[in-house]
Amino acid sequence: MATFEKFKTLEELDSESKYLVHKAKEAAHLAYAPYSKFCVGSAIMLDDGTIVVGANQENAAYPLCMCAERVAIYSAAMQHPEKKMVKLAVVAHKKNHKELVPAASCGACRQVMLEFEHRQHSPLQVVMMANEEEWIKCESAASLLPMAFSKDNLSV
Ligand code: THU
Repeated sequence: MATFEKFKTLEELDSESKYLVHKAKEAAHLAYAPYSKFCVGSAIMLDDGTIVVGANQENAAYPLCMCAERVAIYSAAMQHPEKKMVKLAVVAHKKNHKELVPAASCGACRQVMLEFEHRQHSPLQVVMMANEEEWIKCESAASLLPMAFSKDNLSV
């Protein structure tokens, strides 16, 4: 089974993914990104269909900025600890731009996604626009972070 699926347009994605992208787009309006002006939104679908969203939250002390994906993931973990995260979408747009721009999740977010995949013993699909008008659907966070550090490394 292929780990990644590529789509030329958003329309080609399955309806669940399109809906999540729509929710992520809405969430991007709640980004607080006065420094980078790069507004990111994320939406997660839980195993009962609940949607949890997040947007990046920046800080004048730059290293404290938090990515949209992690805002959404940690929020889902706190609000719905008993539910599994099934699919996550991430989108970005530049301030005052209506068009979406590519937003491939950063390495830190991929690491956090992987941790939750291990915690819940099931894959988290990830949908994002990786290049200009090229949508990617990944079967799992593990596929986004090969040879990752994990709890297994701590048990030696
Ligand atoms: N950002 C995200 O929210 N998600 C990512 O995966 C990449 C980067 C945010 C962090 C920061 O607020 C801005 O985008 C510029 O890096």
